Amino acid sequence: MPRDQKHDPFFETNLARWDEAVAIHAASQGYDLQGYLRGEKTLYQVEMDEVGDVRGRTLLHLQCHFGMDTLNWARLGATVTGLDFSPSAVERARLLAQEVGIHDARFVLSNVYDAPAVLAEQFDIVYTGIGALNWLPDITAWARVVASFLKPGGFLYLYEGHPMAAAMDDEREDGALVVRYPYFEVERPIEWDDEHTYTDGPPLKNTRGFEWNHGLGEVVDAVLQAGLRLDFLHEHRDAAWQALPWMEPVHHVPDGSRHQRRTQWWLPAAQRDLAPLMYSLKATRPA
Ligand SMILES: C[S@@+](CC[C@H](N)C(=O)[O-])C[C@H]1O[C@@H](n2cnc3c(N)ncnc32)[C@H](O)[C@@H]1O
Repeated sequence: MPRDQKHDPFFETNLARWDEAVAIHAASQGYDLQGYLRGEKTLYQVEMDEVGDVRGRTLLHLQCHFGMDTLNWARLGATVTGLDFSPSAVERARLLAQEVGIHDARFVLSNVYDAPAVLAEQFDIVYTGIGALNWLPDITAWARVVASFLKPGGFLYLYEGHPMAAAMDDEREDGALVVRYPYFEVERPIEWDDEHTYTDGPPLKNTRGFEWNHGLGEVVDAVLQAGLRLDFLHEHRDAAWQALPWMEPVHHVPDGSRHQRRTQWWLPAAQRDLAPLMYSLKATRPA
């Protein structure tokens, strides 16, 4: 499935930023690599609960960054393959696999849309999310890629930022929930310029980025059109990151740091029932 050339300039800009971000993230308090090496940084509880037992299963992690989550699935017993378009991410993930002694983990370099041409294999589980789909322009083509990687009876598990939250104005001083960005997938990406990533660390040189939102119905439709059967769709009041500056940590964070990666965030109590922040979706390829 060749990707659409018109998106290449956007991919190139995003790739430069992501490639540079890897070293910053690997050294950050937020990703806490040292804690990870001690086995402290696990997956989110909701992911482990909803995916269930992965022992003996093959798992493909799309947009795996430098492999921490991928290797956490391996720590739980899966045989893992991670895929990312950033050479630095793939290189760091391979090193991390050696550092944690998971020698059968594999990391593949590819744009998601080119992945079927690079990886001719099918898996029990395709896992992705936590800031992945927003880098992709075409959710229908993405779902076809996912389906092509699933064995009959295999499933997709997605834990992702909710498009409603992504549409909110994240620069307000008054804490009001105001829609500012497109909720639906549109041709023209949202362009931004920010010298810091979502975690702590020095500024980046590659400051620009392009993102696309995908409405919840569009994601579900894409998954169904690709031939998968929807098992569940859950909308969550808590988020994996502080998407709006006035969000609060769900649990007390000892040092008050917003960079504790496994901290979950939610809106102040008066807003908590107003909008979903994340969703999780499981969809199975019929046997
Ligand atoms: C926020 S990270 C998600 C990783 C993981 N959830 C985490 O928190 O570490 C997004 C990843 O998507 C990758 N990415 C972005 N666009 C991509 C594309 N078109 N094809 C493959 N990887 C892509 C980036 O290189 C980055 O590693």
